[in-house]
Amino acid sequence: MEDHAKLHTLLEEADAFARSRLSEGRYGHTLRVADTAEELARAHGLDEDRARLAALLHDAARESGPDEFLGLADEWGMPVGEQERESPKLLHGPVAAELAERELGVEDEEVLEAVRAHTTGRPEMGPLAFVLYVADKIEPARDYPSVGRLRELARKDLYRAAAEALRRAIAHNEERGRETHPASLKTLEWLEADHTAQPRIEQK
Ligand SMILES: [Fe+2]
Ligand SMILES: [Fe+2]
Repeated sequence: MEDHAKLHTLLEEADAFARSRLSEGRYGHTLRVADTAEELARAHGLDEDRARLAALLHDAARESGPDEFLGLADEWGMPVGEQERESPKLLHGPVAAELAERELGVEDEEVLEAVRAHTTGRPEMGPLAFVLYVADKIEPARDYPSVGRLRELARKDLYRAAAEALRRAIAHNEERGRETHPASLKTLEWLEADHTAQPRIEQK
C-alpha cells in the first residue's frame, strides 16, 4: 500500500518534471507515450503505473544541448561511445534516467533501464523497456506507412513489434546513409536469434 502511494507521488512528480523541462509539443508526445505504454502494459499483464512512470521520464532530457549532454555524462562517469560523441542527443535516455534517480529518487531499476535504453534499444532488456520502446514508436501522433500494422502487432506480440520497429529504424537509416547504433543492431539480432531466448513477460 505504501509502495502504491509512493509510486503515485512519483507519477505526479515525473509529470511535473517533464512539463517543466519540455516544450509543449514534446510534453504532449510524452503524455501520449505514457497513455500508450499504459495500454501496452495492460495488454501484456505488466504493471501499468511503472510503464507510465518510465514513459513520463523518457524524453525529459531531450531538449538539453550537446555540450550539456557531454558535460553531464563526463561529470557522472557515464559511458560515452563514438556515436554518442558524434551525436550527443543519443545520451538523452541515459541522462534522463540519471536525472530521475538523482532528482526524483527513482530506484526502480527496470524503469530506469527502460528510460536509458529507449532510443537505441539494448539486447536482453526487460519487458518494461520493450513496452516503452514500442510505445514511443506507435503513440497516436506517429504517422508513417507501417504504423497501423505496428500498433496491431504491439497488442499481440510486443517482441515482434519491437523487432519490426527496429528493422524500420535500420531501413530508415540506410535510406539516409546513416549508420545504425550498434545497440540497435544487437537488440534486433538478439530478438531474431532465438525466440526462446526472448524475455518472458512476467506477470506483476
Ligand atoms: Fe527519446
Ligand atoms: Fe519519445
